[in-house]
Amino acid sequence: MDYQPDPQRYTRMAYRRCGHSGLRLPAISLGLWHNFGDTSQLSNCRHLLRHAFDQGITHFDLANNYGPPPGSAERNFGRILAEDLAPWRDELIISTKAGYTMWDGPYGDWGSRKYLVASLDQSLARMGLDYVDVFYHHRPDPNTPLEETMGALDHIVRQGKALYVGLSNYPAALAREAIGLLQSLGTPCLIHQPRYSMFERWVEAQLLDTLAETGVGCIAFSPLAGGQLTDRYLQGIPADSRAASASRFLTPDQLTPGKLEKVRQLNQLAVQRDQTMAQMALAWVLRDDKVTSVLIGASKTSQIDDAVAMLSHRQFSPQERQAIDVILAMPD
Ligand SMILES: NC(=O)c1ccc[n+]([C@@H]2O[C@H](COP(=O)([O-])OP(=O)(O)OC[C@H]3O[C@@H](n4cnc5c(N)ncnc54)[C@H](OP(=O)(O)O)[C@@H]3O)[C@@H](O)[C@H]2O)c1
Repeated sequence: MDYQPDPQRYTRMAYRRCGHSGLRLPAISLGLWHNFGDTSQLSNCRHLLRHAFDQGITHFDLANNYGPPPGSAERNFGRILAEDLAPWRDELIISTKAGYTMWDGPYGDWGSRKYLVASLDQSLARMGLDYVDVFYHHRPDPNTPLEETMGALDHIVRQGKALYVGLSNYPAALAREAIGLLQSLGTPCLIHQPRYSMFERWVEAQLLDTLAETGVGCIAFSPLAGGQLTDRYLQGIPADSRAASASRFLTPDQLTPGKLEKVRQLNQLAVQRDQTMAQMALAWVLRDDKVTSVLIGASKTSQIDDAVAMLSHRQFSPQERQAIDVILAMPD
């Protein structure tokens, strides 16, 4: 059946300016790292993407290696884009990345100009796009001069294959250097994509201030720690969950008794706030205006609805913030 997006979609979402750029991103963005590869049902992928767009989620985040197998998330996304969302391309922000192993040999990994330019060409072909909105360097490369990697990002924008560029997983000092290089080349860095959640707070010490000072936005990936910061694992490991799947990124041994106890206590606080654990975890990441967007994953449309419903209850009292800090300081 032909897809028609919900005419009310822009009333449901909040949009936040990305650093000093002209671009506003939805407060909630959807990532296609899990649940969009060839091991997932294409019908569910379609359902998730349509549903997200209907909620005003205009930003979809990919990478060359998302799958499994690597490349399949971009291919599946490209198919759904062509069949359902193509008429709304100008309402979408589509990002992809390169930086992890993608093909054999010395040119399929890290941060050389050779790899980045070829990888983006492959990504565009898989997605059936002429350009992406944001192209990221996925992780720092200790063996390639930063000038070469940033020069490649600048080149890609000048080629018309990306509108903006971003950095991911760069520590604060290196990010500052890369942002300076991009600025001098005339291709300002739009955004940084770090891991940030109640369980992973490294960005608070330095990165967020660096980004604010340099006018770069921030999109926090895995804000739910892959599902750990939800009520999903409070009664065991559900058969349809990431921890029960073949994903090596969330395994049952990571769900330690200490972590589960933290989530239990956080969940009680969330219940007192009249929201779900996932909603509280997302609102907490967004409590700092320096964070432009939370980049969630979803296996079900109800998870997208849960996230969007969070937007009407995002405030924390000083007492609640302190109570959360006390719980998070407990041993894992
Ligand atoms: N730049 C990088 O290096 C990097 C690395 C990792 C991720 N990312 C990006 O960040 C995106 C999100 O990462 P992520 O999937 O780890 O994010 P996440 O939001 O921390 O975890 C998503 C998972 O949490 C569970 N979940 C989501 N909403 C829920 C809810 N309301 N209630 C209960 N459970 C819920 C689902 O797990 P189930 O599947 O068990 O239902 C879902 O698959 C990726 O798709 C990717 O775009 C980037």
